[in-house]
Amino acid sequence: MTVYLNGEFLPLAEAKISPLDRGFLFGDGVYEVIPVYSRRPFRLDEHLARLQNTLDGIRLANPLSPEGWRAVLARLVADAESDDQSVLLQVTRGADSKRDHAFPRGVPPTVFAFSSPLVTPGEAVRAAGISAISVPDPRWQRCDLKVISLLANVLARQQAVDAGCVETILLRDGLLSEGAASNIFVVHDGVLLAPPKDWRMLPGVTYDVVLELAARHGMPYQVRDISESEVRSADELWMTSSTKEVLPIVTLDGQPVGNGRPGPAAAQMYAWYATFRDEVMRKADD
Ligand code: PDD
Repeated sequence: MTVYLNGEFLPLAEAKISPLDRGFLFGDGVYEVIPVYSRRPFRLDEHLARLQNTLDGIRLANPLSPEGWRAVLARLVADAESDDQSVLLQVTRGADSKRDHAFPRGVPPTVFAFSSPLVTPGEAVRAAGISAISVPDPRWQRCDLKVISLLANVLARQQAVDAGCVETILLRDGLLSEGAASNIFVVHDGVLLAPPKDWRMLPGVTYDVVLELAARHGMPYQVRDISESEVRSADELWMTSSTKEVLPIVTLDGQPVGNGRPGPAAAQMYAWYATFRDEVMRKADD
């Protein structure tokens, strides 16, 4: 596998990073995960804009221009085996010669990227839906930043796995924030509800696509705070992300969501999403 590291394309086995890298020592860095369909990166401008926003949020200069990132992606995507891919971009505050929490001076960032095959949920998983648990959101006040310090998300998601579930829904002060690695939508009485994009959640690229599709096709929706009781009494719950796309949640904390089966709104939204992905993306003019 070819990866990109600090300006070079090289085999994974030859890619070496210092143990003093601040990503390793402090989780001091940012990342993006970009889905690629038929070798076309999905919503690349939006992913690069979110990367810039996160870099600004942690006060780290962007090591590459948008054109530079595009070139890195183009090479990785062309060299990879599968047509559908998931590209990870990661930037850390680099490796100093000592360990000090404060920012180092004159240290170049570490820039890493690689592509792996994109594995999205298959038809059977979507037809069955997935199970989730909920926990109080243990994270900080900048959940809008896509930073690599993901320990709280890792622990939350492992709680789901330990309970035989797929995702953990995070609740803060009685309100829905998001999933451990996804955004969460709620359907109530035929209305799609989405939490607002603020410090409590990552502004998902898939989240934006879902709301665009709802607007385009006339599915009623509201963006507003969603209470825990609205989550628990939902007709439908969905998780969305670049790799999970739109996936219905059919049980929450062991209780059925709605009638315990994937709902019609989820099926409708997935169909719009798949059409958009396949008709618009895969066949897009270069
Ligand atoms: N995760 N919220 C969190 C906490 C996430 O980690 C993700 C995605 C999302 C959805 O964002 P998007 O639709 O842009 O993928 C929301 C990625 C896939 C990951 O960490 O692997």
